[in-house]
Amino acid sequence: MNPVGYPINARSKIYLTITIANMLSMKLLVTRMQAFILALLVSIGSLQAKEGMWIPYLIGAVNADDMTAMGMEISAEDIYSINNSSLKDAIVHFGGGCTAELISKKGLLLTNHHCGYSQIQSHSSLKNDYLKNGFWAMNGKEELKNPGLTAAIVKYMREVTNQALMGVTATMPAAEREAKIQENIKSIVEAQKEPYEYEVKAFYYGNQYIFIAKEVFKDVRLVGAPPSSIGKYGADTDNWVWPRHTGDFSIFRVYADKENQPAEYSEENVPYTPLRHLMVNLGGTKPNDFTMVYGFPGTTNEYLPSNEIANIVNDYDPARIAVRDALLAILDKKMRENDETRIKYASKYARISNAWKKWQGEVLGLTATDAVGKKQKMEEQFEEAIAKNDVFTKEYSGLLKQMKSLYDERKPLTLERYMYLETMYYGNELVKHLLGYRGLVKLYEDGKDEELATEAAKFADRLDGFYKDYDVELDRQAMQALLPVYLKAASTEPLPEYLKGLKGKSPEQIEKYVNNLYAKALPVKDSEAWKQMLKENPKKAIKSLNKSDAMKLTMAGWDHFINVVNPKTRDYEDKLDVLQRKYLLALSEVFPTKMMYPDANSTLRVAYGKVHGYEPRDGVEYATHTYLDGVIEKYIPGDYEFDLPQKMLNLYNTKDYGRYADGDKMPVCFIASNHTTGGNSGSPALNGRGELIGLNFDRTWEGTMSDYNYDVSLCRNIMVDIRYVLFIVDKFAGAGYLVDEMDIVVPAIEEKKKEPVDMAPVGN
Ligand code: ARG
Ligand code: ASP
Repeated sequence: MNPVGYPINARSKIYLTITIANMLSMKLLVTRMQAFILALLVSIGSLQAKEGMWIPYLIGAVNADDMTAMGMEISAEDIYSINNSSLKDAIVHFGGGCTAELISKKGLLLTNHHCGYSQIQSHSSLKNDYLKNGFWAMNGKEELKNPGLTAAIVKYMREVTNQALMGVTATMPAAEREAKIQENIKSIVEAQKEPYEYEVKAFYYGNQYIFIAKEVFKDVRLVGAPPSSIGKYGADTDNWVWPRHTGDFSIFRVYADKENQPAEYSEENVPYTPLRHLMVNLGGTKPNDFTMVYGFPGTTNEYLPSNEIANIVNDYDPARIAVRDALLAILDKKMRENDETRIKYASKYARISNAWKKWQGEVLGLTATDAVGKKQKMEEQFEEAIAKNDVFTKEYSGLLKQMKSLYDERKPLTLERYMYLETMYYGNELVKHLLGYRGLVKLYEDGKDEELATEAAKFADRLDGFYKDYDVELDRQAMQALLPVYLKAASTEPLPEYLKGLKGKSPEQIEKYVNNLYAKALPVKDSEAWKQMLKENPKKAIKSLNKSDAMKLTMAGWDHFINVVNPKTRDYEDKLDVLQRKYLLALSEVFPTKMMYPDANSTLRVAYGKVHGYEPRDGVEYATHTYLDGVIEKYIPGDYEFDLPQKMLNLYNTKDYGRYADGDKMPVCFIASNHTTGGNSGSPALNGRGELIGLNFDRTWEGTMSDYNYDVSLCRNIMVDIRYVLFIVDKFAGAGYLVDEMDIVVPAIEEKKKEPVDMAPVGN
């Protein structure tokens, strides 16, 4: 038994040898770049862990044998095909940041509750509080439109490395290279004739370029959402945590014009008929079942050197966590004391705590798996192999060392950058708010009085949105805690005089300065007076604002960030990019059998793995599935995180689960070893037949490090069981007509009862 409990795939080994032979004989013929890509392709044959986010059109060449051996029953063509409809046609990039999937021939679209959150919120009012009570359209007429929301489907992807790199030379300076590539990309895109949207994305730090054509739908309507007490059950306490009991889903519908083409919202539009929609399987999963996740993962950094991982563990994450510790403590205290504040700050608190909690899990996981030590060991082998081989020595000697020292050299700058963002940009609402006045200040300074008057009046009309959820006292306290942190971090020369002045002040003086700043900050001192002043005397308003300490601090920090910190960061990034690009090439040559998948970059990917529990710490073992019993166990009447609707309690008491039950229990969530990241939220979890069995929405706390270091012993993605979703839609909401639209597969009882083949725990 290999360490992960997965069967070793004999066929892929054969494939590996054949391809290496082919590659060697071909190597003279192909360019270096192509050889690089080929090397990447052959290198995963010896994989044990199912780490990776793979490019859909390469599944046939790269992963299919492995996936089949793990339990996949469909072919690579079923996953991605250029000639026929395939699963790809059912996968949607939702609003550019999440994933969603088409689940009926009438354009029904499933995604997470937290992905549809802002749409649900925007339709909510005190009278119709859809966040609190849920929303269900009982027919097409009741669906709600969402201006600006898009649903993009990939039509095709193809490699364009040679075209993208045309005219690029090895010695070109980074900026020149980038400009040349952008010019090439522009001409590739301009040559296209179809009514699609196009992009060309860099993979492997620019060793490969892929062209992507997408059909972008612009009329996407809200169909249904459970109450937050289901869709966000457990809220921040349970976020990133297993065992989980959240029904994190919402339902939309894609509309098209009469020709089934994308169109802006119109009453004339009709439900979109997809090329493919997913079949829904009610059979559930058991430990060791094959699963895959098809979606749009956002960003990962899997090929950083060991010292940069150490910087994350020892410096970057702790510094950011500490700032948010302070901020969240201030918010939490007042939110607990005051109901009004709690409501105002619920969404802000959730946003701030999401990354805060993830970073803590990241540090924990990277430490527990000795990610730095493992990378160091690999780097030692890398250096040894380079020293032993003349060709490698000539090409790569000193590369890793240079890259590592550049990361370390950049460290103070990176810290300063993070601290500005954390303390001023995200951490202080007044600063963030005042940055919004830059346009008006410019009009004032340019003497464009008329334009200033029009814009200032419009601005004043929009201010209520900000005031509605703003607590000036809370924000003052935040500034008291965070300004000293920022002033300490701000050190890259040249520093603005204003900041230098503040850096010279004692803690007592700073405290006084902040109190005074808030007492005099016009926009938050008296909101009605300020709105009136903006409308009636915009020149006076902006003149006074400009003279205020609040605005001086805001602009000093911003100017320094934009004109000093950012350009210096970009210089480092340009240099690091060149080195990382070469490093990846070197890795593929030095370790020709090591797996190398491209980092996530918001393009369509397939991850695959198995339903598996894990051991988060000594003596604790996590099961793979949760049930409604667990939801009820966590129930705290009246609590803002763990309250439940009475109807849910009734359904539980009467065990009214219909065909969605698993025996006499109602399944809720499950975990598997699919490699996912932010952006994979809303992605379909598919079984070996490519049928929908769940909806991805999170990862386990100990495994959030997968963005830098996937480790199969701890990394799990969390999915809501599709049966729970349908149970809520049908039994809880009474919107069974939506389930009737879907194609439901109910597996035979015998098949469902089949014993798992291999239950070996992972990572032991
Ligand atoms: N952790 C998940 C993700 O990164 C879910 C976040 C939304 N839920 C929340 N309670 N804040 O997106
Ligand atoms: N919750 C994340 C998302 O919204 C998914 C993850 O980070 O695992 O995409």
